[in-house]
Amino acid sequence: MMKKKWWHDKTAYQIYPKSFFDTDGDGIGDLPGIIEKLDYLKDLGVDIVWLSPIYRSPLADQGYDISDYYSIDPRFGTMEDMERLLAEAKKRNMYVVMDLVVNHCSDEHEWFRKACEDPEGEYGKFFYLRKLKKGSCGVQAGDSAEGRQAQYAVSSPDGYILPCNWRSYFGGPVWEKLPGHGDWFYLHVFHRKQPDLNWENPKLREEIYRMINWWLDKGLAGFRIDAIINIKKALPFRNYAPDRADGLCSIHRMLSDAEGIGAFLGELRDRTFAPHNAFTVGEVFNEKEEELPDFIGDDGYFSTMFDFAEAVWGSSPEGWHAAAQITPDDYRACLFSAQERVRDIGFLSNIIENHDEPRGVSRYIPEADLRGMDAALRLTAKKALATIYFFVRGLPWIYQGQEIGMENLPLHSIEEVDDIASRNAWEVMRGLGISSEDALRAIERNGRDNARTPFQWTAGHAAGFTTGTPWLQVNPNYRQINLEQQAADPASVFRHYRRMTALRRDPLYRETLVYGSFEPYLADDHNVIAYLRRSQTLTILVLSNYQREDRTLPLPADVRKVLLDNCTGSGSPAPLIQDGRVALTGYRTLVLELAQKSE
Ligand code: GLC
Ligand code: MG
Repeated sequence: MMKKKWWHDKTAYQIYPKSFFDTDGDGIGDLPGIIEKLDYLKDLGVDIVWLSPIYRSPLADQGYDISDYYSIDPRFGTMEDMERLLAEAKKRNMYVVMDLVVNHCSDEHEWFRKACEDPEGEYGKFFYLRKLKKGSCGVQAGDSAEGRQAQYAVSSPDGYILPCNWRSYFGGPVWEKLPGHGDWFYLHVFHRKQPDLNWENPKLREEIYRMINWWLDKGLAGFRIDAIINIKKALPFRNYAPDRADGLCSIHRMLSDAEGIGAFLGELRDRTFAPHNAFTVGEVFNEKEEELPDFIGDDGYFSTMFDFAEAVWGSSPEGWHAAAQITPDDYRACLFSAQERVRDIGFLSNIIENHDEPRGVSRYIPEADLRGMDAALRLTAKKALATIYFFVRGLPWIYQGQEIGMENLPLHSIEEVDDIASRNAWEVMRGLGISSEDALRAIERNGRDNARTPFQWTAGHAAGFTTGTPWLQVNPNYRQINLEQQAADPASVFRHYRRMTALRRDPLYRETLVYGSFEPYLADDHNVIAYLRRSQTLTILVLSNYQREDRTLPLPADVRKVLLDNCTGSGSPAPLIQDGRVALTGYRTLVLELAQKSE
């Protein structure tokens, strides 16, 4: 049996501070804005709050490029604001989690500045720096390892042969010229303003541990751990077969070769999180199957990690234009396989979206961008998706705006786009000869700005997010989709989320919904998503008719009670339950308490 932890029965929420709530009219959300909305989050039923980065940063990648880990960026507020947030959260029995971005820092961080001054000095060793030579590439092709190295070698525009041909996540080679030096280069697996930190260097690791402990001592509950799988590089640097015409290969190629990340992660846990009993959630994309117990088992490296099975489904190495659209049956297969994989080894963190992904309702509800659905059906479908992901085993996360069913952002021109990943995808697609119209549609479906538009509080100016001009446009649907309207409407997505968090907290059902086993139900029925949660004393069925058409579905036992109905408040008649079957209209979704077999 898995050890019980204090956070297992909680509900978690991700705030993207820049777009949450602005109190000073500069168009950028801030810490005082988060403090002001704590009661709102409490009312929604949230216990744990993760803040995307608010550290000092040039915001080249929206704060995932930190120039000082010990200070708050003035755009978000001050350290006093942060301390006040911690105190106010504590008063409400809420827990604050920050983003831990330690695969890289900003090129404006003091460490990197010092590395530039003296690449061979102490701080040069905090990064991956290499002094390179000019030469010609691709000369001695052959079958030996050396031959492959030479065959796949790539060079900088001015002729330096790069140590490896990896493609950075945001496009282009991972090697960039060290400012102020002709022949020194540094490694960045993300943007060039995000130089990678060298975890092989114990001095760097000590600096990181000191920083983490400093924050935990302040009263932080823990961290969401960014891009962590990248801290272990496959060394020495080597070239792999290119997978696109640019002669480069995906970072994933290197990651699957990198061995020994466990030593770093174990030390990180033992020196920081474990002594503080901190909560941690890893952003882990490429863990190796057999390593799951090491990552999130009892005493794993992290408390939990996100399940990205659905998010990565259909992605293509060629780029966004080639990504496949997920169907309800595929979605179910992802959800169920993740549950099967984790069993009771640990707890996954369940999401339908985050600040890097499109909006869940626009992605996982099949009518593409929902425009094909009438308003009532669209509402029912949004609440269906919510119910399905919320009650599988694991820790449910709500990303800001998800609780009011915010949707993807329609685009008219690339000029509107802020996200660097989208801008890179645009270059890639245009380079392949894809029309600007098609490229824009691909960005609408996949881009990170979808989730980053300001939270829609009201139908007023800038959706009530700011009195000024928002840093990123508000989704034009804010007059139809906003919290003010939904709080007053019993059929709204928001009110449904509130019912879900309340049900998960209900002492009668908590044990079953948190620790109960997970069992697929009607797993071969097209467009039906259903599963059982079972404890010693209770069985709960989540049953969704995830399509437009009506369906009558068999029940595995008598129904004792309807615990949740996604049409509550909408005026629809109660679902007809008769002769061991239940009639469900399109997207109707129920959570049912079943009679035990002996009754
Ligand atoms: C993670 C973050 C993403 C960021 C990247 C680099 O994937 O979630 O927003 O761009 O790491 O830090
Ligand atoms: Mg502000």
